[in-house]
Amino acid sequence: MDTDYESRFVGAEFSPSEDNETELTLRPKVLGDYIGQDKVKENLSVYIEAAKMRGEPLDHVLLYGPPGLGKTTLAGIIANEMGVNFRVTSGPAIEKPGDLAALLTNLSEGDVLFIDEIHRLSRQVEEVLYPAMEDNELDIIIGKGPSARSIRLDLNKFTLVGATTRAGQLSAPLRDRFGVIFRLELYTPEQLAQIVNRSAGILGIGIDPEGANEIASRSRGTPRIANRFLKRARDFAQIVGDGEITKEAASIALSKMEIDSLGLDSIDRLILTSMIRNYNGGPVGLETIAAAIGEEAVTIEDVYEPYLMQIGFLSRTPRGRCVTPAGYAHLGMKMPGQQKFDEV
Ligand code: ADE
Repeated sequence: MDTDYESRFVGAEFSPSEDNETELTLRPKVLGDYIGQDKVKENLSVYIEAAKMRGEPLDHVLLYGPPGLGKTTLAGIIANEMGVNFRVTSGPAIEKPGDLAALLTNLSEGDVLFIDEIHRLSRQVEEVLYPAMEDNELDIIIGKGPSARSIRLDLNKFTLVGATTRAGQLSAPLRDRFGVIFRLELYTPEQLAQIVNRSAGILGIGIDPEGANEIASRSRGTPRIANRFLKRARDFAQIVGDGEITKEAASIALSKMEIDSLGLDSIDRLILTSMIRNYNGGPVGLETIAAAIGEEAVTIEDVYEPYLMQIGFLSRTPRGRCVTPAGYAHLGMKMPGQQKFDEV
């Protein structure tokens, strides 16, 4: 069994950068150290224990939800708790059926194969995955033209953990082959503060409770963002303060990064202000917003909208997106037919 995370990576795009390496050390390795997602943890621990008692691999697992919530971390924990290897790849990295065949034939009994961005697998590759998931069989075609032959190989049993930001884009046959489907939720500020304190402990960063709360409440429900802000706040505390992350040091660091009191960044504000200025606050279509601000529609949908909707600044209607009264109030902008709000 591999014990080293890096040696478990498959696929060129996963060569770890410096930031990636610190992220790897911050990732919890057992379910007990994973903060938040309580319902997921509760059910997953039952499924893992039951599978282990039966001496079987865990059923295939689909994790979906906005980026940065810990889908890869959870997949790594599943492998670790099951005591098997963790193999990582991603939808775009598997270009041809042969790429997937190579991955599958190299798995040992019970291994976890993690496919990030699984919604980006091509239809041809998906076709190879179905019999592998269902019957641990690989159908491959050897040769071309009239002499082409199809052969069937037995595979070791394995657990596929698929992750996607967009469950709706997964084809129905693929989605139906997952026995376990979990949706990850945005984290509460209290949970994020716990994550920040845990990460600070691992990285040897001095932080007081109010500093951790400040970072947590401005990290838009996302551990990856909280951990990034922690590192940037450390830089400020080191250069401007005495090295300890206080509420003030965290606040200065975040304001310099144009992160406001609720964690909105310049793009979040641009989305809202352009909807208000150009389209009277909506309803306006996603593609129109994307064109107006020069971002990809999928980025707005996956990265920005979940938090703006969670805090009640944006709503989705059948006719398009709308800025809510709370969104107007936060920006200090006047709703059509209303007095201007004083407060930002
Ligand atoms: N680091 C990133 N996500 C985490 C989580 N959910 N629990 C603990 N540490 C984390």
